[in-house]
Amino acid sequence: MPNLYSSDGIVYIIGGGPGDPGLITVKGLDRLRQADVVLYDRLVATELLSEASPNAEMIDVGKEPKKHRRSQAEINALLIEKAREGKRVARLKGGDPFVFGRGGEECQALAEAGIRYEVIPGVSSAIAVPAYAGIPVTQRGVTTTFAVVAGHTGDSDSNIDWVGISRIGTIIFLMGVEHMSEIVHQLITHGRSADTPVGVIREGTTANQFVVTGTLADIVEKARGVRPPAVLIVGEVVSLREQLDWFVPQPASLSVETFSKHQTFPLIYASSRELFKD
Ligand SMILES: C[S@@+](CC[C@H](N)C(=O)[O-])C[C@H]1O[C@@H](n2cnc3c(N)ncnc32)[C@H](O)[C@@H]1O
Repeated sequence: MPNLYSSDGIVYIIGGGPGDPGLITVKGLDRLRQADVVLYDRLVATELLSEASPNAEMIDVGKEPKKHRRSQAEINALLIEKAREGKRVARLKGGDPFVFGRGGEECQALAEAGIRYEVIPGVSSAIAVPAYAGIPVTQRGVTTTFAVVAGHTGDSDSNIDWVGISRIGTIIFLMGVEHMSEIVHQLITHGRSADTPVGVIREGTTANQFVVTGTLADIVEKARGVRPPAVLIVGEVVSLREQLDWFVPQPASLSVETFSKHQTFPLIYASSRELFKD
């Protein structure tokens, strides 16, 4: 069969998970270790970088909000260039590559250039960050629906369907912390009760995890000063945190490099019940 691709190189679009390095998938870690070149983002757990081969070329393409270090077009071009050199290229991204991660755009660029690629989905902050704060995004008897929304589209001139969004049981906003007052205003204006529980979780799943809870009526005041990266979660499920707050942020986070490449990850985060049982 003829080779349809322009080189033997390949790009692995890898979801690195939300912060706790143990949340990368087995397949993602495997591809990361095989890579000749690693292009990584800002929100990727630094412990994961030491999992790459010592000979791998490490390229920081991370972007701070409003401080674009490399444009998306430059990143796409770099992926194509390295793959055309016949290299195995790991594109390591925070959370899941296809959840507000521009992974789809990178795949389009690779497809157009005739470069082979694999997508290794990741654990998205949209679900994992609430989970580490003791908030299940759905719960029988509470809600069976959830939505994940890009919060920076919260300004009134955006085309977001606030009527529809407001009716969904659990609403998770990424990139929304700097637009919290507008989001709260839109939800209340479109019929959500001001008593609805809200959680704001910063640097979730990491040793720095910080959680503020309140209601639509008071969260803007209570979470004033919380900086990105943070997840904003709205809905009755937030109240379950009172019972399910299991995660105890540890001063020393999991370092995957301390484990042999053939070992499975140990569970380092004991539940608060285990830590404090008498
Ligand atoms: C550009 S989006 C990328 C989302 C990513 N692809 C995912 O699936 O998690 C970045 C946003 O994700 C959220 N986020 C990512 N990691 C987070 C973390 N550890 N704690 C809180 N929020 C996080 C924040 O809302 C942040 O502004």
